[in-house]
Amino acid sequence: MKLSGYRSAGLLLLVVIGCLSALAQSDVAPNAKLASKDLSLRVEALLKKMTLEEKIGQLMQYSVGNATGPNASNLKYDEMAAKGQVGSFLNVVGAEATNHYQHIAVEKSRLHIPILFGQDVIHGHRTTFPVPLAIAASFDPAVAELVARTGATEARADGLAWVFSPMVDIARDPRWGRIVESSGEDPYLGSAMARAWVKGYQQDDLSKSDSVAACVKHFAAYGAAIAGRDYNAVDMSEITLRQVYLEPYHAAVEAGAATLMSSFNSINGVPASANPFILTQVLRKEWGFDGFVVSDWGAVSELINHSIGDGPTVARRALEAGVDMDMEGNLYATVIAAQVRSGKIPEAVVDEAARRILRVKFALGLFDNPYTPVGPAYDATPERRAAARKVAQETFVLLKNDPVEGVGALLPLTSKAKKVALIGPLADNQRELLGAWAVTGDPKYVVTLRTALQERLGDRLLYAPGCDLLSGKDANVLKHVNFGGPMISDDQSAAPDDAKTIAEAVETAKKADVAILALGEPTNWMEGEASSRATLGFTGAQQQLLEAVVATGKPVVLVVLAGRPLELKWAAAHVAAILEAWSPGIEAGHAVADVLFGDVNPSGKLPSSFPRAVGQEPLYLAQLPTGRPAHGDLGHFPRNSAEKFVSRYMDEENSALFPFGWGLSYTRFSYAQPTVSRTEVPVGEVIGSGSKAVVTVGVDVKNTGSIAGTEVVQLYIRNTAASVEQPVRELKGFARVVLAPGEQKHVEFPLGFDELNFINTDMKRTVEPTAYKIWVGGSSLATAETGLQLVE
Ligand code: NOJ
Repeated sequence: MKLSGYRSAGLLLLVVIGCLSALAQSDVAPNAKLASKDLSLRVEALLKKMTLEEKIGQLMQYSVGNATGPNASNLKYDEMAAKGQVGSFLNVVGAEATNHYQHIAVEKSRLHIPILFGQDVIHGHRTTFPVPLAIAASFDPAVAELVARTGATEARADGLAWVFSPMVDIARDPRWGRIVESSGEDPYLGSAMARAWVKGYQQDDLSKSDSVAACVKHFAAYGAAIAGRDYNAVDMSEITLRQVYLEPYHAAVEAGAATLMSSFNSINGVPASANPFILTQVLRKEWGFDGFVVSDWGAVSELINHSIGDGPTVARRALEAGVDMDMEGNLYATVIAAQVRSGKIPEAVVDEAARRILRVKFALGLFDNPYTPVGPAYDATPERRAAARKVAQETFVLLKNDPVEGVGALLPLTSKAKKVALIGPLADNQRELLGAWAVTGDPKYVVTLRTALQERLGDRLLYAPGCDLLSGKDANVLKHVNFGGPMISDDQSAAPDDAKTIAEAVETAKKADVAILALGEPTNWMEGEASSRATLGFTGAQQQLLEAVVATGKPVVLVVLAGRPLELKWAAAHVAAILEAWSPGIEAGHAVADVLFGDVNPSGKLPSSFPRAVGQEPLYLAQLPTGRPAHGDLGHFPRNSAEKFVSRYMDEENSALFPFGWGLSYTRFSYAQPTVSRTEVPVGEVIGSGSKAVVTVGVDVKNTGSIAGTEVVQLYIRNTAASVEQPVRELKGFARVVLAPGEQKHVEFPLGFDELNFINTDMKRTVEPTAYKIWVGGSSLATAETGLQLVE
């Protein structure tokens, strides 16, 4: 079965819609190359020649350099490569560095097996693009594909044929710092993005000299860590696991992903890295995956901490469950061979893991072309900059744009603003604007907001940093943020006094017609891995800074720069205009300026619900119903309820401050009544339709404003009478529609089994006689409604 999303991608082409390229939706058999007969013959011939130790060598991956966990340390990698004891390295980057080890492996090891070099290429390699959460906000899979394609080309030039991306974990809790690497809360959007990332990396042909193998991570359900605490256990029903969390991994596997990474967490009491249910039953038997699985960093040896056995036991359990490669744990190398010799582990299990890894190496062409030509040093060329700027522009979400007395809508800024005050610790910080996981990105390439606005405004721009990102009160955070080298001085006694710098910022604002505040959180090690937070406010003295500048009475534009939804309740109540700009990468300043000044009309939509208060988390749209809903049907809608015995908070609304799919434009769009091509469809027809549409939902969308704009038209459904309760509202289609002023377009969304099915108590996908409510609009608050009946 094809997953949902293909058809609406097809729809995008049908109805225009410029951005999505045909590339994003081809329908190639998964891993066609891996399954080829030729390749199989070469692998089997090689396997026959290998000793047990050489086969185990292929299962080993080591990190040279950077560490995001305990290192296997002090190993002699040159010697090991020469003995065929290394299948893969990570954190060896560059043609010269990779060639060094490759020459040893290919020329000195007995069987001349090349090493596979892998690396975290998360939002670009040398060219840093916006973070993945931002890319999801574009609702444009072509953007993900472009970022992946660029990253792949640059990675390959650096000797890397394998990237640890995409991360497709559903993330519904922004306390979890890794939400920044995800596509947010929704499986439909997440699946569309997952396919596009894989396509961009692999191009349906691993053997191309600029393709890399994708590594889909973290399998599985890593994003559902209890309480948003990284590495924590996951406990959920199998229905939710299958219907929500597994969907994007499945989409990526169907798109042909060559590798997966097993996650750190346990799932319902069984660690994911020794979990035969997900690694063998689901991944291999149900989905037919024929690539290989690498553990996350040290995840095999950390199984000991999960208390499921000693070293030899956990290594056996991981290998037998389906973890083929041991990342930086050095456990397989030390405890597997003896267990094979004693008969505890059948040698066929080692053979199979080695076979899967070798298949990928052959498919990548590493045996034929193991070395990387040394090319010119990287440069952020105008072409690369243009791509990074365009991508960033598409990712920004206009959260609010209220009229200001005497000015009208504050954004876009016009030449009426004679003096502009730019304020905030993120206005001129190259490293922070680069984003959370730019291992090989270089801050020196980042154009800051200050630089870009200076280019536009010259001496009409005033600037004041206002405060640091962190202050003395964040001492606990500081030591973590400074992991891997000081970013912010530990010694805050020497730091400028916040009260003084805020007073200076206030004076600066007073001299201007409008103030732009660039606030957020430190992206470097306060977002991403091991960066969970129990609060979601601005860090340091930024909130005080914001309040002080707003108190001047000057119109304020707040630009939020962060890789997770922050708590913006005060800002939403007191600031006229808010632009969510995430972590935009090397063209941060230009892209923000383009949107603030109206050269580009914002079109991004939220891939993640923004809370009013951290206590609402995990907060997401597709909640299951309750017998005592707070606000009629939809507990997440912003309506007050005075009732007591309903599912609600005493002290806060249930609804998101800014809901999933939300995002404004400088123009306005209107929606006509949507229609369905048929109001009734027999269930049997839906079941028998495979991936084909059985009905089409059509809607006319009009740009009623005076400037051109792009609207992300979204389709939501609710199954009102299933045998297993279904979410109150779920995304099942989206399309980016470009509309000139006054222009109207007809947009169609096909619906069939893929969109209408759910998982029943037998863990099977099905549809039943029922009524679906269907809404179409510009966010999850869409009210234009139609319906569909499935009949016997
Ligand atoms: C640990 C992270 O969880 C994973 O995402 C990453 O790919 C590996 N470390 C390698 O750096």
